[in-house]
Amino acid sequence: MSETDVPFVGHERLSKIDANSSPETLRKIYDAWARKYDADTTGHLGYVGPVEGARKLAEWVPDKKAKILDAGAGTGMSGAALHEWGYSNLDALDISAEMLVVAEEKGAYNHLFQDNMAGPEPLKLPSNDYDAILVVGTFTKGHVHADALDELIRVTKPNGLIVFTLRPDMCDDPAYGFTEKLPKIEAEKKVELLSKTTEKYHLKHDKINCYMYVYKVLK
Ligand SMILES: C[S@@+](CC[C@H](N)C(=O)[O-])C[C@H]1O[C@@H](n2cnc3c(N)ncnc32)[C@H](O)[C@@H]1O
Repeated sequence: MSETDVPFVGHERLSKIDANSSPETLRKIYDAWARKYDADTTGHLGYVGPVEGARKLAEWVPDKKAKILDAGAGTGMSGAALHEWGYSNLDALDISAEMLVVAEEKGAYNHLFQDNMAGPEPLKLPSNDYDAILVVGTFTKGHVHADALDELIRVTKPNGLIVFTLRPDMCDDPAYGFTEKLPKIEAEKKVELLSKTTEKYHLKHDKINCYMYVYKVLK
């Protein structure tokens, strides 16, 4: 079977979810998709979000020993890309235990945490612990909403960075809260926007780009 013959089941299921879908629904979809996720997304979508996210983080985080959390890490494609850039102090967090099993096999992470970024419970992580957080493909349709940024800010050290992708269609959809949340946390001086660029995301299929944000956490 060639890469392009892989059944595209996971992505089809995702097309049926929306802003009201529960974290539990997402967890089940990704648990079932985990073993085929990499082939489906890189093969069918030409998904380059993880590679682009790692490249952007490397632009802004010169210290290769920086403690980095890959939040919504999935199967760890971003972690693998960060590892190639020379980063060695990487943790992964995801709601799907099966995705984390595949991530662990990539050998890039020190610690892997199954946790829910969508609240209402806080993340089971200490405050002010990470030098940088990377979130790729997880602030996306039917997934995690903008309110999750509060917890990501809490676990990031002062002057640490949060780098994330955001699809342009979601950015402007009030159901996900980014139109309100981003100006608010900037105005409250919790974060400072260092960079917002348009980057490659899906090279095939719908051929969309994403926005890539780099925020400095001020607290
Ligand atoms: C499109 S995948 C992206 C995975 C990886 N970052 C990548 O770019 O390949 C979205 C990931 O978000 C995770 N996810 C969805 N909702 C979540 C939540 N509430 N908390 C934590 N992870 C969640 C899913 O399990 C899945 O692994």
